[in-house]
Amino acid sequence: METQRLTAHDIERAAGILTSGGLLGIPTETVYGLGANGLNPDAVHAIFEAKGRPQDNPLILHIPTEDWLERYCEDIPATAYALAARFWPGPLTMILPRKPIVPDAVTAGLDTVGMRCPDCAVTRAVITAADVPVAAPSGNTSGRPSPTTAAAMLEDMDGKIEAILDDGPCAVGVESTIIDLTVIPPRLLRPGGVTLEELEETLGEVEVDEAVRRLMAPGEQPKAPGMKYRHYAPKAPVTVVKGEPSCTAAYIQLKLQQGSGVICFDEFKDSFPDHPVETIGPAADPAAQARHIFEALRAFDHLDVTDIWAQSPSDEGIGLAVTNRLNKAAGFHIVEL
Ligand code: TXA
Ligand code: MG
Repeated sequence: METQRLTAHDIERAAGILTSGGLLGIPTETVYGLGANGLNPDAVHAIFEAKGRPQDNPLILHIPTEDWLERYCEDIPATAYALAARFWPGPLTMILPRKPIVPDAVTAGLDTVGMRCPDCAVTRAVITAADVPVAAPSGNTSGRPSPTTAAAMLEDMDGKIEAILDDGPCAVGVESTIIDLTVIPPRLLRPGGVTLEELEETLGEVEVDEAVRRLMAPGEQPKAPGMKYRHYAPKAPVTVVKGEPSCTAAYIQLKLQQGSGVICFDEFKDSFPDHPVETIGPAADPAAQARHIFEALRAFDHLDVTDIWAQSPSDEGIGLAVTNRLNKAAGFHIVEL
């Protein structure tokens, strides 16, 4: 199949692909997604096929406005409306009890469903025009870094999907925050664009799922099934070095061998001559680091490196999401200085 490139002028065409059961690459503020009609089990199965995604890993549903929540969810707690009022449209996915109309293919048989209203006007217009919720995981092949541009998504999906809607680079750069509202206290399953600190302002106590900060042991089940898989990983092994930036730079300099690559803050871009270097932004700018982390990880798959050393961001604010993705890419291979 030849994958068509669409733009914001092609909303009706894009909606038609969804209603006829096809696969559509959709921009969002977090990462590009691999979308299909979330009420059509065959279309949803095609998502799993195109990504090579394990069948036990549920998808989230994208909706254009908060009013659509009642179409697909029941027993919606007041906290969901409070969060929607503050953070939607935006990078927050809420886990809620599902209605029977949501197919098992979407939820992998769970009785809950993840709901998200993305902060991307074009995508919301397409969903409104199609009048169906859009099931969409990140648009990468399973296990690879998520795509933050249409070009990155096409690296993985060209020829496998009907079309991709290009709306430029993603503004946030890491996937949405996932909060489970079916438990008390609410539980953070994946850190993302909405920070833990912001959630606590609205919700009070928030429990952080263990899978956010450490590697799950074999047989252990994180609450978000996707958190158990090796993820975001470039082909070469990654080591994350935590500590004060000038110390981590000095440590990495000592460890580099011929063929090693480096992920570092902008300030250190000239500190590793003779090595491929990918910068992720200034040390004090976690939002820039979020925008660049996946492109940095992807870039090494085009370079011939034997191993990758990365300076670790701080884990405050959106930094918790950046360190989570980087640590997962490293299989939690972390050196603390
Ligand atoms: O920002 C995002 O959320 C992007 C864009 C495209 O919207 N989407 C995304 O989807 O990151 P995906 O499938 O790559 O990650 C969704 C995560 C997975 O780890 C999955 O296991 C978890 O959400 N999840 C989905 N439904 C769930 C449920 N009912 N209960 C617990 N976890 C769930
Ligand atoms: Mg993903």
